[in-house]
Amino acid sequence: MSENTYVLEAHNISKTFPGVKALDRVSLSLKAGEVLALVGENGAGKSTLTKILSGIHQTDPDSGGIYFDGKEVDFRNSQDAKSHGLVTIYQELSLVRGLSVAENIFLGQLPRTKLGLIDWKELNRHAQEILNELGLEVAPDEMVGDLSISRQQMVEIARALSQGTKVIIFDEPTSSLTQTEKDILFRIIRSLQAKNVGVIYISHKMDEVFELSDRILVLRDGKNSGGLVTKDCNLSDVVHLMIGRALDEFFHKNKATKGKEMLRVEGLSKNGQFENISFAVRKGEVLGLYGLVGAGRSEVAETIFGARTHDAGDIYIDGEKVVIKDTKDAVSLGMGFVPEDRKAQGLVLKMSCLNNMSVAKLRWIKKAGCIDFVAEQAIFDEYKQKLSISTPGAHQEVSKLSGGNQQKIVIGKWMSLSPRVLILDEPTRGIDVGSKSQIHSLIAELAEEGIAVLVISSEMPEIMGVSDRIITMRAGRTSGSFEGDEITEENLIRAIAFVDAEAAS
Ligand SMILES: Nc1ncnc2c1ncn2[C@@H]1O[C@H](COP(=O)(O)OP(=O)(O)OP(=O)(O)O)[C@@H](O)[C@H]1O
Ligand SMILES: [Mg+2]
Repeated sequence: MSENTYVLEAHNISKTFPGVKALDRVSLSLKAGEVLALVGENGAGKSTLTKILSGIHQTDPDSGGIYFDGKEVDFRNSQDAKSHGLVTIYQELSLVRGLSVAENIFLGQLPRTKLGLIDWKELNRHAQEILNELGLEVAPDEMVGDLSISRQQMVEIARALSQGTKVIIFDEPTSSLTQTEKDILFRIIRSLQAKNVGVIYISHKMDEVFELSDRILVLRDGKNSGGLVTKDCNLSDVVHLMIGRALDEFFHKNKATKGKEMLRVEGLSKNGQFENISFAVRKGEVLGLYGLVGAGRSEVAETIFGARTHDAGDIYIDGEKVVIKDTKDAVSLGMGFVPEDRKAQGLVLKMSCLNNMSVAKLRWIKKAGCIDFVAEQAIFDEYKQKLSISTPGAHQEVSKLSGGNQQKIVIGKWMSLSPRVLILDEPTRGIDVGSKSQIHSLIAELAEEGIAVLVISSEMPEIMGVSDRIITMRAGRTSGSFEGDEITEENLIRAIAFVDAEAAS
């Protein structure tokens, strides 16, 4: 056994869920001080492997063993794994919102005074030390519930660092981080590496994988598909192992003739969030809303859809001024919305895939007062195929799908409604590189069907690829509008970042 080189080894791990063989004799090894990227299509088994390594799931009986720090282990739960020095940072956070930052960092190991009381002074001092090390400007006594999602995630990392960790697994950690926060995270990962911590890094963002990792392990349909040394390979090597073919570079460009204005927003303002936002989207047009995370794009989109209130400004649908009090109003006006945070806003996790997909459409497919099950199934089948959703069946509970496949269900749900206006907020977050282009093509097809589409994205290639026209936002205001030849990387970067003009004024 190679105890001295590998901090973590897993041999022939299998995991069967009812109807799904999620992992089939998968093996993995990780050296101390190494960053191993774990990649694969949606549903390939990455999160399942993570959950097995950290004790949340148990392996099938015919599996081989897991060796941690040279000893065979059988972690019973995540706490057990943690106390041995293996920590996982999930995209779904596990903090206690009603406790302070410092309390969360030291949860379960709060320092005590001689009298057995919590030593607040020591607690806050030590927490501050860790926060400083991370370069995080968060006060130890701040309530976690008051922090943004990204800052909460940093607190989770701080918590992991407080515990003498030997291996940290990150499962898609950057999807809700700003660029600055991502830089901080990457710096932290490098310093972990320097401290001989082993890191497993799961991401669909290939630029991150190439920037961070020493080796890449690819899973495909629950099996080992291959391993690569990062510096000796390129993107197409990885993609080939992931999907067994070259990437579909071909962008289906929207060919629709643009019709009349379907959505118009005039002077939309909300104190402290965004100010004086005006734009219009025409029938058959894809308008991109581009900016940095935190620029106010999602707030604007949620306001249009009636999920937030505004202080001033008007919204017009199909030329008529409308009052949208809540999301129900928006839906009955013919709007659809694929939200950024699918877990909180897009899905009923305990319901089946089928029901989640058709819930918005039920009103349309009701026949004489009862649900038309045949029509419901047909919708599901159509979008399962169009979006290549991987699920053992229509009746699978949606919480049991992989993250990316959950996202596809939300997209399918709104696409199936053929709304007049469709807003998509970060539509390919968590979606694998192979499926991305399918979703881009579908967006173009929707526009060609005559839908006015508003797409929000933080990814430049995505926004440039799908949009006919792009509006940029910066710090709550629109900062530019680009069409045709004006859509260049340079113009976009200039428009979303604080540069020249700002500095001069
Ligand atoms: N608790 C569960 N019950 C039943 N099936 C599950 C459960 N968890 C995962 N699966 C299934 O196991 C397979 C692997 O899922 P997993 O979440 O590991 O994929 P992933 O590689 O993390 O994908 P993604 O990139 O979309 O997050 C999928 O088919 C998924 O539907
Ligand atoms: Mg996953």
